[in-house]
Amino acid sequence: MSFVCVTFVKADGSEVSVETETGVTVLQLAQEQGIDIEGACEGNMACSTCHVILDKDHFNKLCPASEEEEEMLDLAAGLKATSRLGCQLMVDESLNGARLTLPKITKNILGL
Ligand code: FES
Repeated sequence: MSFVCVTFVKADGSEVSVETETGVTVLQLAQEQGIDIEGACEGNMACSTCHVILDKDHFNKLCPASEEEEEMLDLAAGLKATSRLGCQLMVDESLNGARLTLPKITKNILGL
């Protein structure tokens, strides 16, 4: 198992850098660290409240989003070209050094 370092940029602009083992999702990691990210559907790709915005370099290294992820992202508030769902992104070496920005607002289509 290897370690990677990622930096979360919170909605208020403050940053939290985390060194972690691989094998968890970005959503799980953020929640473990007390980062304010909702994840209302608990990773079932039904809410878009786990929306994160990656820096371009790291975004380009990732496998493309699935069609289902793209459809859910289309419903996310503050969508950017480098947006992904945190529940669908596994933390692995490709994210080492990544900056993951939380949008200033989220939209929960589940209404939870
Ligand atoms: Fe709901 Fe990711 S937690 S889509």
